Parts: sequence; C-alpha cells; structure tokens
Amino acid sequence: MRNLLITGGAGFIGSNFVRYMLEKYPDYRLVVYDKLTYAGNLDNLKDVAQRFAGRYTFIQGDIADAAKVDEVMREHEIDAIVNFAAETHVDRSLMGAGSFIQTDVYGTYVLLEAAKKYGVERYHQISTDEVYGEIPEGYSSVETDPLHTRSPYSASKAGGDLMCIAYFTSFGVPVTITRGSNNIGPYQYPEKVVPLFITNAIDDIPLPLYGDGRQMRDYQYVLDHCEGIDVVLHRGQPGEIYNVGTGVETQNIVMARRILDLLGKPYSLIQPVKDRPGHDRRYSLNCDKLKALGWESRHTFEQALEKTVRWYVENEWWWRPIKSGAHFEEYYTRQYQGREI
Ligand code: NAD
Ligand code: TYD
Repeated sequence: MRNLLITGGAGFIGSNFVRYMLEKYPDYRLVVYDKLTYAGNLDNLKDVAQRFAGRYTFIQGDIADAAKVDEVMREHEIDAIVNFAAETHVDRSLMGAGSFIQTDVYGTYVLLEAAKKYGVERYHQISTDEVYGEIPEGYSSVETDPLHTRSPYSASKAGGDLMCIAYFTSFGVPVTITRGSNNIGPYQYPEKVVPLFITNAIDDIPLPLYGDGRQMRDYQYVLDHCEGIDVVLHRGQPGEIYNVGTGVETQNIVMARRILDLLGKPYSLIQPVKDRPGHDRRYSLNCDKLKALGWESRHTFEQALEKTVRWYVENEWWWRPIKSGAHFEEYYTRQYQGREI
C-alpha cells in the first residue's frame, strides 16, 4: 500500500495517526478526508501540513457523500482506507443520535462500497471497547464476545463493525477492525473527560464527576493505540478484530485526583454531578490477540496521564480558542448547568 485515505484524520486519534505514519513510512502518501465537524480541527495537523507538504493532502468532505468519496478514491489512486471518521461522544449521542447513525453506520457503508469498487488492499475500521457494553469485575472482553451496546454511540459503532464483517464475508473486502479503549494525549477535543478535567483544573473551574466516580476506564496513550492500528494494518488477518488497550483500568475519581496532583490543585475542585443515563460502569479489554502480532503498550496510565497533562499545560494556543468558542460554551451549559449534586 502507498496511497492511504485517512477519514476523520483531522480529529484527535486520526491526526496523531497521520503524523505517526508520515514519520514512520517515508514512501506513503496520506490523503486526509474529513468533514471538519465541531470535533475536526486543522490546527491538529498544522505541523504535518508544513513538514510533509509533498506527501500529505487534505480534502474536506463527508464520508456519507458517495460521489465525493468515489472521486477522491479515483483521483488519488487510493489503495487502503483507515476510517477514523465518526461522531464520538456518548453524551452528545444521548442528546441526539441521528448524526451518529448517519456517519458511524451509513458513512461506514459508503466507504465499504468504495473499498469494494476499487479493490483496496485493506479497509481498516477504528472501533471501540464500548461495543462490548459494561463488563463485570474480574472479566476482560475478547474479540469473539457478543456485543451488548447500551448507548446510541456504542450502538452506532457496533453497526459499523457488523457492516465491515458483512463486506468481508459477502464480498471478500479485506477488512480489519481494531477496538480501542479510551485514548488520551495531544489534540483531544476538551469535551472528553481527561482534557476537560485538565483544562478546567488549569483555570480553577470545577471538574464535573459523574455519579460516584467509581466507573472504570482503560485510559491508554494515543500513540500506543496508533502503533496497534499500524500493526493490524500491516500484519492483521483480513476479517479479524483486534482489541487495543493497556489491560489496566482506573476509576474516574482516581484519574481526577491524579490530574489535580500533577497540576498542584486542590481535590475540592472535584464537583459530583448527576450521573450519565445508562452509564457503563466498567470496560476492560483482553489484548492478547494483538500482543501475539508483536505489539505492546508502551505507556502505563501514570506515564500517559503525565505526558497528556504536560501537553495541555504547554499548548494553551490549541485549546483556549476551542473552550472560549460559542459552540463549546453552548454545549457546556446544556450538558452541565444545574447538574450538581
Ligand atoms: P474525534 O471526535 O476527535 O474526531 C472525529 C473526526 O471525524 C473529526 O475530525 C470529524 O470532523 C470527523 N468526522 C465526523 N463525521 C464525519 C463525516 N461524516 N465525514 C468525514 N469526517 C467526519 O474522534 P476520535 O476520538 O479521534 O475518534 C476517532 C475514532 O476512534 C472514532 O471512530 C472513535 O469511535 C474511535 N475511538 C475513539 C476512542 C477515544 O477514546 N477517543 C477510543 C476508541 C475508539
Ligand atoms: P468520556 O471521555 O466521555 O468517554 P466514554 O464515556 O466514551 O468512556 O468519559 C470517560 C469517563 O468519564 C466515563 O466514565 C464518563 C466520565 N465522565 C465524567 O465523570 N465527567 C464528565 O464530565 C465526562 C465528560 C465524563
């Protein structure tokens, strides 16, 4: 493969992946195709556009726009697709699920049709541990587990996954899927919990912790996830699914306190708020299948969080304009106002 289409490449994980791939593979050309929703941001790729001008192209477009996807596939002689494009925030999916179904399910179908028509070497789908639903203590999900989605977000992601497997089975499209745990690191839109808590703490704004804060997530460093995707893209078996995470879960309240410790701020900034409806208590992944391909997570939760906090401290130029924008402020008020308990 040489000409990769990276859909959703202007988002958090996508932009980290684009930078990682261009640095690692000097003969690859990457075309980022992104709708630039509220979560897409060309600032995430500013350095990339400068450093890799000859091998990087940006095109604004919707993955659900079949004619435009077709045109890009043809004009750029795309031979592999990596699909990061999605609506990604559980809380927003609770406010309205339509855009999630449109992008995460229908958009995936459009890309699979293009993959089939152009006979790509690989179609890789970025999925999530959330498709397994909440997992009881003492168990970690394996790739063959049934899906138990509980939020509109996870249901739409599961729909995308199932369509991928259908295109492999029915049409032989060489599909692979990775299911990642919660990512943290540079360029994550600050509505997600870790960048929200870090940037609030920097400004002495309360950290809205849902419910009792004892929910558990496997917070992994975004570049570990990118390495896992790279391994599966090159060495994964078509038709197969691979979990990607550290295998270690942390309670949200522990994560919140650690952020405050790292920033030298008081725990009194933690503000319990009404829980998210249908909040999945715990996710946990067994990643042995990916490890068997030679991948390993390089960062512990502590190391990942430390690096992430440092990045937000040093890169206010990136997040301040987002947080002070009308879109973010409107969302924040709608999501959190009057929710204190
Ligand atoms: P993000 O919200 O930061 O970025 C999503 C990107 O997709 C944005 O640039 C947005 O503009 C683009 N996009 C949205 N709709 C589009 C459309 N219709 N057409 C083209 N582009 C569109 O998300 P992220 O956190 O980087 O997540 C990327 C992928 O990884 C998603 O598929 C998500 O489900 C998955 N994932 C995320 C996490 C996580 O912790 N963030 C964990 C596991 C899996
Ligand atoms: P989030 O970053 O939204 O990811 P996901 O729900 O997809 O795992 O949330 C991570 C965890 O943090 C989840 O258990 C919900 C919790 N959370 C809060 O406690 N407060 C918040 O303001 C947000 C956004 C999330």
